Amino acid sequence: MPPYLLPISIITILLLYKLYQRMRFKLPPGPRPLPIVGNLYDIKPVRFRCFAEWAQAYGPIISVWFGSTLNVIVSNTELAKEVLKQHDQQLADRHRNRSAAKFSKDGKDLIWADYGPHYVKVRKVCTLELFVPKRLEALRPIREDEVTAMVESIFNHCTNPENKGKSLLVKKYLGAVAFNNITRLAFGKRFETAEGVIDEQGLEFKAIVANGLKLGASLAMAEHIPWLRWMFPLEEQAFAKHEARKDRLTRAIMEEHTLAREKSGGAKQHFVDALLTLQEKYDLSEDTIIGLLWDMITAGMDTTAISVEWAMAELIKNPRAQQKAQEELDRVVGFERVVTESDFPSLPYLQCVAKEALRLHPPTPLMLPHRANSNVKIAGYDIPKGSNVHVNVWAVARDPAAWKNPLEFRPERFLEEDVDMNGHDFRLLPFGAGRRVCPGAQLGINLVTSMLGHLLHHFDWTPSEGVKPDEIDMSENPGLVTYMRTSLQAVATPRLPSHLYKRVAVDM
Ligand code: HEM
Repeated sequence: MPPYLLPISIITILLLYKLYQRMRFKLPPGPRPLPIVGNLYDIKPVRFRCFAEWAQAYGPIISVWFGSTLNVIVSNTELAKEVLKQHDQQLADRHRNRSAAKFSKDGKDLIWADYGPHYVKVRKVCTLELFVPKRLEALRPIREDEVTAMVESIFNHCTNPENKGKSLLVKKYLGAVAFNNITRLAFGKRFETAEGVIDEQGLEFKAIVANGLKLGASLAMAEHIPWLRWMFPLEEQAFAKHEARKDRLTRAIMEEHTLAREKSGGAKQHFVDALLTLQEKYDLSEDTIIGLLWDMITAGMDTTAISVEWAMAELIKNPRAQQKAQEELDRVVGFERVVTESDFPSLPYLQCVAKEALRLHPPTPLMLPHRANSNVKIAGYDIPKGSNVHVNVWAVARDPAAWKNPLEFRPERFLEEDVDMNGHDFRLLPFGAGRRVCPGAQLGINLVTSMLGHLLHHFDWTPSEGVKPDEIDMSENPGLVTYMRTSLQAVATPRLPSHLYKRVAVDM
């Protein structure tokens, strides 16, 4: 037999097997896949928009082939409910590509863990210990410190005569709050000094985050075509070095906390202290503690900053809504003090602004994909075990069948009808729903609302000079989390007495 015949026969058998598998099931409709690559070359970079367009053509449940992996995307309320409620348990695994597998030590954390005893245990730690109202309340001074630090730094920028009338890059200020808040919450450390200088550990932390993104992005198309992977071996050494570096930094921080606890005799509220003191009770390995701490960074940092950036863009485009939120703040908080989280119940319009921004611009528009751990039927179609299921929460929240004038930014809609966004109303799912719903939802909402409250109470916001509100670019950057494609530039003008622009620093 000629030597080239063997590989050709193997490939043919594989393709035939795949074809047989596809024909055995009644799969949801979708764009026609090519052999081997599937639909990979048809998918446009901003995936959730592309999937929403395909849903228009093929219906609310579609099949999209990433190489040889079937991805099913659902785009309406009823099917979101089928996925996240009726079939929640069968669809609660995660797909780990090779980098996610390395970063999570094959699912020893929470985000990348499959549904099973380990997942149930760490989820319990989150629900019963980490994200309980008492701890979130105890950590509130950190949030207020960071939000007031943001206000002070914007004030310093815009009262500097050199910057008079000039716009600022909003994301820079939001990013600092998100970064400092999450590192303090997880690691109990503010890596940045009051002067904005990042210490050595902070630089190492930032370098690790950047390197992780680089390694994650380095994965080729072969990720989706398992039998091609031999041509694209993982940079094992680079991944091992990255993991070692991450572990070294985290262990050093953990040791500092252990020493401090031994000295003071009491544990602090930060997650690192909480996890170390709960280690025995829940039988948590060191890998799991490190994994959980980094999960919080991965899931809780960009998401909050993104939500506020979109909300501010909408408020600048809609001066009427901005003014209405400010009138409410002036009435409830006044001009003698700054807003705090205890004001939230008296600020319904502000809360609606946050909700409306999360409706139109969920920072994770396709949530995180869930993987089927058995064969499931959704909407009468087969979803074979091992397929990935995505809920296009962006499309669901803009579905004209569920929302009146869905594309309009109108916070009042939630005064007229109170729609839950914590996973109970399947029209609005920025945090997902079901057993994998975001455990940080309340924390995220508090931080987003607090940032918006301060930004609006302290400043008037207008577009950069020469830009009309409707010229602000509202398109998205591609990626799992969706930043604005063109970062928002805006002019901030102080509107409160100057003594209210001081950071309220706390040492905790
Ligand atoms: C506006 C802010 C946030 C949004 C919109 C958001 C949204 C989400 C979404 C959609 C998921 C996936 C749910 C699923 O797979 O079904 C998720 C998961 C997760 N989020 Fe958030 N999140 C936010 C903030 C946070 C914060 C502040 C933290 C922690 C400090 C956090 C921690 C997590 C974790 C650990 C998971 C994984 C849960 C699991 O796999 O079981 N999130 N989040």
